[in-house]
Amino acid sequence: MKAAVYLEYGPPEVLQVKHVKKPTPQKNEILLRIKATAVNSGDLRLRKADPFAVRFIFGLIKPKINILGTVFSGEVESVGEDVKHFNVGDFVFGHTDMSFGAYAEYKCLPENASIALKPATISYTEAAVIPFGGVTALHFIKKAKIKPGQKVLVVGASGAVGSAAVQLAKSLGAEVTGVCSTSNMALVKSIGADKVIDYTKEDFTLNGETYDVIFDTVKTISVSQSLKSLNKNGKMILSAAGMSEMLHGLLISMTSNKKVITGVISHTAADINLLKELIETGKFKPVIDRTYPLEQIAEAHAYVEKGHKRGNVAMEI
Ligand SMILES: NC(=O)c1ccc[n+]([C@@H]2O[C@H](COP(=O)([O-])OP(=O)(O)OC[C@H]3O[C@@H](n4cnc5c(N)ncnc54)[C@H](OP(=O)(O)O)[C@@H]3O)[C@@H](O)[C@H]2O)c1
Repeated sequence: MKAAVYLEYGPPEVLQVKHVKKPTPQKNEILLRIKATAVNSGDLRLRKADPFAVRFIFGLIKPKINILGTVFSGEVESVGEDVKHFNVGDFVFGHTDMSFGAYAEYKCLPENASIALKPATISYTEAAVIPFGGVTALHFIKKAKIKPGQKVLVVGASGAVGSAAVQLAKSLGAEVTGVCSTSNMALVKSIGADKVIDYTKEDFTLNGETYDVIFDTVKTISVSQSLKSLNKNGKMILSAAGMSEMLHGLLISMTSNKKVITGVISHTAADINLLKELIETGKFKPVIDRTYPLEQIAEAHAYVEKGHKRGNVAMEI
């Protein structure tokens, strides 16, 4: 099968399209013919081994996992003999979690992985981009227990996680303000934000507004300064936090009436099914900036690395 493979950590060019062995499903697995995937920040981190700690899990000198890509849409090509919930020919989408491997024509996954039937109303390409931002935003929004009428500020509202966070918070009945650059204001309004702040012209920490939840998806805020914009008992989500922000967040949670939520996400098939329902009811729309063919994987990585993509960068296989 065709796959984008990398054998050493480094710049986008370490990704090369090659022919590799097609996987065979175990008894509890389904074999997917992948039609589309997406290039996300997690893929970049593993490609570059950035932060260095990546090497302690994914290979000290060279990567142990050679095919990146965590999200996918595609068709079930065959199933292991114990598989009960999926059939050959099902159209599905989902998240491979830490096994990666979606930059390829085929991928095997246990049937109980984060997989759901693809909504019929969207294309394969649209379906593939949803799970990354979708499960990340969902994980943190569930932890924050957002209630109808609460005021939620999403920083980085034009990104993969941010565009999902805006839509998920809206679906729960929150009043959502998105923070983005001038050229992304129309996009952020179009996905449902009630208000939009252009960070190139206005600092949200200085405008006197306060929020029940501040969700920073891009690690660009000053945590100490932003606490002033958080209501009493408010929650601050730092989904892109590094170790120092996590420790700072822990200290704030332990010493004040405000809570900081950080950490690594987890997800299940129920989360993908929830995203499917929201798509089918018109409450969640995929946001795609660009689409590349698998052969242009290095170009796609170079574009995402610039840090200015709008929503998601899809890849068709
Ligand atoms: N905790 C976890 O387990 C977990 C899971 C998944 C992802 N993450 C983290 O989430 C982060 C990636 O998120 P993503 O994929 O959503 O990013 P992304 O799609 O690359 O988002 C970048 C967006 O943010 C905007 N932006 C840049 N600077 C900004 C600023 N100062 N204020 C507001 N918006 C700004 C950019 O547009 P402009 O430049 O035009 O403003 C762009 O649209 C990564 O750090 C990743 O590690 C964490």
